Amino acid sequence: MARFSDEFLNELRMRCDIEQVISPYVNLKRRGKNLVGLCPFHNEKTPSFTVYPESQSFYCFGCGAGGEAIGFIRRAENLDFTEAVRYLCDKSGMVMPSDGFDDSLSVKRKRMYEINKEAARFFNSCLFSEKGKEGLEYYKSRGYKKSTITRFGLGYAPNEWRALLTHMRGLGYSYEELYEANLANRSDKDGKISYYDSFRNRVMVPIIDVRGNVVAFGGRVLDDSKPKYINTSDTLVYKKSLGVFGLNFAKNSPEKSLILVEGYMDAISLHEAGFTNAIACLGTALTSEMAHLLARYAEEIILSYDADEAGQKATERAIGILGSIGMKMRVIHLSGGKDPDEILKKYGPERYRSLIDGAANDIEFALLKARDGFDLNTSDGKMKYLEKAAQILSKTRSEITRDIYSSRLSEELQVKKEAITARINQISRMNTRKESQDFFKKAPQQNISESTKTALANSTNIRVVRAEEQLIATLMKNPDYYRHIEKIVSAEDFSVTLYKRIFSMITEKIKEQRSLELTFFSEELTPAEMDTFVKITGDSTKIGSSLRFCEDCIGVMKEEKIKASEKPDLSTISDEDFRNLFKKK
Ligand code: UTP
Ligand code: MN
Repeated sequence: MARFSDEFLNELRMRCDIEQVISPYVNLKRRGKNLVGLCPFHNEKTPSFTVYPESQSFYCFGCGAGGEAIGFIRRAENLDFTEAVRYLCDKSGMVMPSDGFDDSLSVKRKRMYEINKEAARFFNSCLFSEKGKEGLEYYKSRGYKKSTITRFGLGYAPNEWRALLTHMRGLGYSYEELYEANLANRSDKDGKISYYDSFRNRVMVPIIDVRGNVVAFGGRVLDDSKPKYINTSDTLVYKKSLGVFGLNFAKNSPEKSLILVEGYMDAISLHEAGFTNAIACLGTALTSEMAHLLARYAEEIILSYDADEAGQKATERAIGILGSIGMKMRVIHLSGGKDPDEILKKYGPERYRSLIDGAANDIEFALLKARDGFDLNTSDGKMKYLEKAAQILSKTRSEITRDIYSSRLSEELQVKKEAITARINQISRMNTRKESQDFFKKAPQQNISESTKTALANSTNIRVVRAEEQLIATLMKNPDYYRHIEKIVSAEDFSVTLYKRIFSMITEKIKEQRSLELTFFSEELTPAEMDTFVKITGDSTKIGSSLRFCEDCIGVMKEEKIKASEKPDLSTISDEDFRNLFKKK
């Protein structure tokens, strides 16, 4: 039945540390020896999602979701067990066991990484050849140093229809493969299909992921023609909504922040000027997926979008997204230039540094924006601005923050601070009430997992259920106890069906001297069953650990079983006996 060997699953488990698997999705904060964050599987404002590095598992106290690394990926990426294993294999550079599997996808993926790397090499070599003169001229005109070109692997796609195609065909890659990698386009004329280079006469910027794979390209025209930029769309190795330029370098920067800019040319210029923590989104707005990824590498995001209206809109959206995952942020207000690149070219790095130092935090930015439309010389303007400001400040839970800005507003507008604070608190209370109403609307489905509900419904006695849970948890932690209790307990003694099964699985593994890591259970148990399993075994600090404790649990189970069997079956009892039941007392 099991499709993967223990050896294989164990290797996968070792390579896919739970913290690393989860952190692209959840901004985790250390709490003691565990980590907590906002649950990715339900909406919440305070973290109840817990990661236990010790048992390599996770559990959400809000919605009851739990499991190990494979289970997490199943849920987060909506995959079945085998697909999730394959996903983790790819991420950790393991090869899927081939018997009986279709591992064509991971083979394809590997080839695509190679194709991209070869293409990047080709574009780079073109830049320094006769064909690439124009490209090199372009970079020079933008002031890029040779070392920058080398560091970022910049290149040039020749002004020909089949330059890359011919080169790659020579290396043994097929048209189809190049098409799937988005490096070739296809035209169909009267049923005759022909292929041609996607990128022509453009300076080329490879997009490299944090593991150093070339995953995509951006190409810019050399003049003012349109479209200015072409970017790789989604492929087997690239998801546009997760594409970040420069993170492979920025992640090694000593800074604790990341500077997020709109264009990769801006990012390159910033790196050249010494801001090695600059990154760029790629032709898309910041997504919450991306924000989770960034949170893994930085404590704070410094937003530095273009000064134009589109840039400011994007800034507001980004603030919302970063705020929702609890990320610290600051916003650079560009003045004297349209984007970071222009500021650097016109005024030099010191100017940009001072802009960073003077960057407003998200609240200041929001307040500045809010003030824009109002005439503060009129009382009407003042009132409207104040109302908007109170709305903004009500969103922060920090009393100190509220206090600071209420004082500033009070001075600025000559309004009593107490009045401002009162209004903020009022709005805040209204928000909280709405939140809690929303929560209770959803609460019944959210709070306990299906299998726990079933477990409880099938069992009459919570005390027994607890004893069964504790026995399982203790045994998971101390498999050596089994030989001491083997004779006094069996799966039959369990009242909860799921626990009966889990207990059988555990004892079977112990007898066969196999490992008891959660990973080895995750194929046979459904994700919902894993929820319950992890809930009872996850936090090892709360689990009793003595053999004596095991025996006590067994005692409770047996005692209740006997009581249950002694209880007369009320449906078959005669009226006479029924009355006697009460007389005896
Ligand atoms: P900008 O037009 O602001 O580019 O677009 P830029 O960085 O200032 O470019 P230069 O300095 O003129 O070379 C910002 C980003 O939006 C995406 C690109 O990722 C670009 O870096 N974009 C823009 C596209 O994807 N396609 C386009 O046609 C234009
Ligand atoms: Mn720009």
